[in-house]
Amino acid sequence: MIIAPSILSLDYSEFKSQLNILNENCEYIHFDVMDGHFVPNLSFGPDIFKAFRKNSNLFMDVHLMVSDPFYFSDVFIKAGADGITFHDEALPDLESKLELINKIHDNYCKAGISIKPKTDVLSIMPLLDEVDLVLVMSVEPGYGGQAFIEDTYEKIKQLNDYRLRKNLNYKIEVDGGVNDKNAYKLKECGTDILVAGSFVFKGDLKANIDNLKALD
Ligand code: DX5
Ligand code: ZN
Repeated sequence: MIIAPSILSLDYSEFKSQLNILNENCEYIHFDVMDGHFVPNLSFGPDIFKAFRKNSNLFMDVHLMVSDPFYFSDVFIKAGADGITFHDEALPDLESKLELINKIHDNYCKAGISIKPKTDVLSIMPLLDEVDLVLVMSVEPGYGGQAFIEDTYEKIKQLNDYRLRKNLNYKIEVDGGVNDKNAYKLKECGTDILVAGSFVFKGDLKANIDNLKALD
């Protein structure tokens, strides 16, 4: 299981020491970009991202919760992202979604598609043989610390079944309310990457990461 700590919950007064723990114990860093429009909240721009990039070789997993993913994908590709995930709900048609996936790939980045809790898996079916990652939101995007939505398990199962049936390779990532209570079931349903913010950063960071990793 890949653990992708969401640095939305990082303690910025302890930036260096917490980042060192991530560097030694994780493979991914999950970086939430919010524009105050697609979601009500605002988060980070490229300069903060570059501070992480400069101090880490981990896979930088950028989650764009923005209304203009074309613009923001450029910004974060230039800043050094390894993967860019945008929301299915942010673009109007299949053509523009495919165009953005191609643009991300042309820049040697992994491309991901994300769905909000109320969006059906059916909506992204035509994209599944094009993407490297599917990010299933298990809370309404915008804030850390919300409760996990139980319907998520069914979506993961659908995505995992379809992947097996069609022999596809996308990774399945779950984001929102992930903790030591739901992680095992998420793994059983087919999850490859667990994003976790408040659960890992509350208390002992290394122990919490180990706790999620203990699933393997
Ligand atoms: C929510 C973000 C998440 C968030 C997860 O919109 O996409 O990545 O940081 O935080 P927790 O794990 O606290 O739900
Ligand atoms: Zn996220």
